[in-house]
Amino acid sequence: MNFNIAIDGPAGAGKSTVAKIIADKMNMTYIDTGAMYRAITLLSIQNGKTDVNDIIELAKQAKICINGKRVYVNGKDVTDDIRNIEVTNHVSKIAKIPEIRILMTKIQQQIAKNKGIVMDGRDIGTTVLPDAKYKFYLTADLKERADRRYKELIREGRKVTLQQIEKDIIQRDYQDKHRAVSPLTVAKDAVVIDTTAKTIIEVVNEILDYIKKGE
Ligand code: C5P
Repeated sequence: MNFNIAIDGPAGAGKSTVAKIIADKMNMTYIDTGAMYRAITLLSIQNGKTDVNDIIELAKQAKICINGKRVYVNGKDVTDDIRNIEVTNHVSKIAKIPEIRILMTKIQQQIAKNKGIVMDGRDIGTTVLPDAKYKFYLTADLKERADRRYKELIREGRKVTLQQIEKDIIQRDYQDKHRAVSPLTVAKDAVVIDTTAKTIIEVVNEILDYIKKGE
């Protein structure tokens, strides 16, 4: 495909599930940019780094590789570790550091330069790929998003409560929407889809129909 698709939105709106299916169906490559910020967060926790300059240095030296569905940092498979609660609760603090965003944005733009990419995140349509041919912003009610995340984590065997998940999502959304550099906002030219009462397949079909019309 000679174009890119940007999918943004808050936590738990269904972005990654939908983006993966769209990429599969359209024979495109799925890139999860949240995984990159999570990888840097994991590295900083594992190395006991709390100083911003130390974290920036770690990020500069980190070799992040997104290989199909697996994520590697400096050669180590961190796919499962980057989803843990500690990383989830710290990631927005790392993601607001301007130097980290500049580094990640450059990598993401490099990955997408030859097109054929479905990229999901918070600032893809606004900052990373402002020229993406298709931009979607997925959202859903807080309760629904918390419920989805809760069920997903319980399925993975993690010990969490719905109240805690809801609190974490509120906090993360707030930080992502209020940071100084590339906060989570709806790109002017994005199609907004409220997924609250929709199934995954309904959302996928809505996106595919929209793209078909644009071809
Ligand atoms: O998508 P996911 O929930 O895994 O993203 C984790 C965090 O990474 C977000 O809450 C946000 O702080 C950060 N992020 C970001 N910009 C992106 C993707 C993710 O700031 N493009």
